[in-house]
Amino acid sequence: MPALLTTRRRLLAGAAALAATPAFAATGQHNVTDAPVADTTSAADLVSPYGRHQAGITTPRPANGMVAAFHVLASDPSALERLFRRLTERIVLLTHGGPLPETDPKLPPPDSGILGPVVQPDALTVTVGLGASLFEDRTWLAPHRPRVLSRMTRFHNDALDADICHGDLVIQFCANTQDTAVHALRDIVKNIPDQLVLKWAQAGNVPVIPARPDAAPESARNLLGFRDGSANPDSEDAALMERVVWIGPGNAEPDWAADGTYMAVRIIRNLVERWDRTPLGEQERIFGRTKMSGAPLDRAEGTEAMVPDYAADPEGEAVPLDSHIRLANPRTPGSEESLMLRRPFNYVNGVLKNGQLDQGLLFIAFQSDLEKAFVAVQRRLDREPLEEYIKPVGGGYFFVLPGFAAGEDFLGSSLIAALSPTSQTSSQSIPGRPVTD
Ligand code: HEM
Repeated sequence: MPALLTTRRRLLAGAAALAATPAFAATGQHNVTDAPVADTTSAADLVSPYGRHQAGITTPRPANGMVAAFHVLASDPSALERLFRRLTERIVLLTHGGPLPETDPKLPPPDSGILGPVVQPDALTVTVGLGASLFEDRTWLAPHRPRVLSRMTRFHNDALDADICHGDLVIQFCANTQDTAVHALRDIVKNIPDQLVLKWAQAGNVPVIPARPDAAPESARNLLGFRDGSANPDSEDAALMERVVWIGPGNAEPDWAADGTYMAVRIIRNLVERWDRTPLGEQERIFGRTKMSGAPLDRAEGTEAMVPDYAADPEGEAVPLDSHIRLANPRTPGSEESLMLRRPFNYVNGVLKNGQLDQGLLFIAFQSDLEKAFVAVQRRLDREPLEEYIKPVGGGYFFVLPGFAAGEDFLGSSLIAALSPTSQTSSQSIPGRPVTD
């Protein structure tokens, strides 16, 4: 293992032990897309920001989320390091919470105050990623670009609005309440105005379900009324997450990228008026699952946890061949290469100028290889029957930085180390295929 990686792993092993977050114990959730359950969360919930990986990916998805994309003004490595250190400082403060500092009436208050005199952790996670444009526009950074980080390109059904696409840097905020996410965004905008300029932001949430102590966990519903996340890979299976989500030796990425992941964000409008007038049977055939239970259509009396048997249904009589789930994951040999961890939120933005409801899915997926996972799956989904009811309008691709340890470490420290002229490992790939830029 290269020196940089070894040191990083050693540092972070300690951090992980210190900061072990009880993954789902507190919430009763078992997978990232399980619906949050009422009365199982509290403002005191603390999700540690420390560890090998950033929080907000395999940690439980709370009820609220927001994605904000920024232009970065840093024009040299030391400015980038300063930005990463300041972000780290804000993230540590915000995720732990605490009483606000004294305010001098002659100065602007240090905090927006929207959460009152004591900021609660509220399960806040702040997850930071970098966009391709950050690397493209800076010659000193270009050789260190993650191997498959590119700008999101247009797919068949897209009507992308440039104002809500891409970004040099992305931050995903997740929390029990939307106020905590908004507070965190305002804090970062206020404290780092000379280095970050906000480009776009999209907030979302997932419905909280009433507690039913003996019932199996269920995936949260999206705004088309279907359970969303039923077939998501198990985020509590660490070995599976190493393969599906985290960058490791098999990914031929630059050393600095180890323990990071790729994030695909898509703002996908749902044409809900049209959907609500579509017969139930057609809605279910479009997805390949029953609407209420989420069971696959070849075992319609079963549960959402059941796995469809496509080999026994080669003509698609039960689960249509062009249904969303069958196209997204045909379950043929090799298709496990395109697994991803979805962690989406629903959004409700009011009314469009044409009088239609502006609602949809803030689709977020994490994977160790963007091309093999999100891009391959989206290509298979191009021209799916669901397209009549959805319209992707924004988003972007980002590389989520590795995690950081408590103490001297900071977010992005491995990238900054790789930029140093003395670094031996700066743009080497983890042994495997060469890095192709
Ligand atoms: C508004 C847009 C979308 C909606 C409403 C939607 C909804 C759903 C629903 C209801 C399911 C079935 C339950 C489940 O396993 O989660 C599902 C499955 C899935 N979706 Fe989507 N989805 C959307 C967009 C996308 C996109 C853009 C991708 C990736 C390119 C994607 C990838 C998947 C995958 C991989 C599965 C699991 C298939 C399986 O393993 O059986 N979806 N989606």
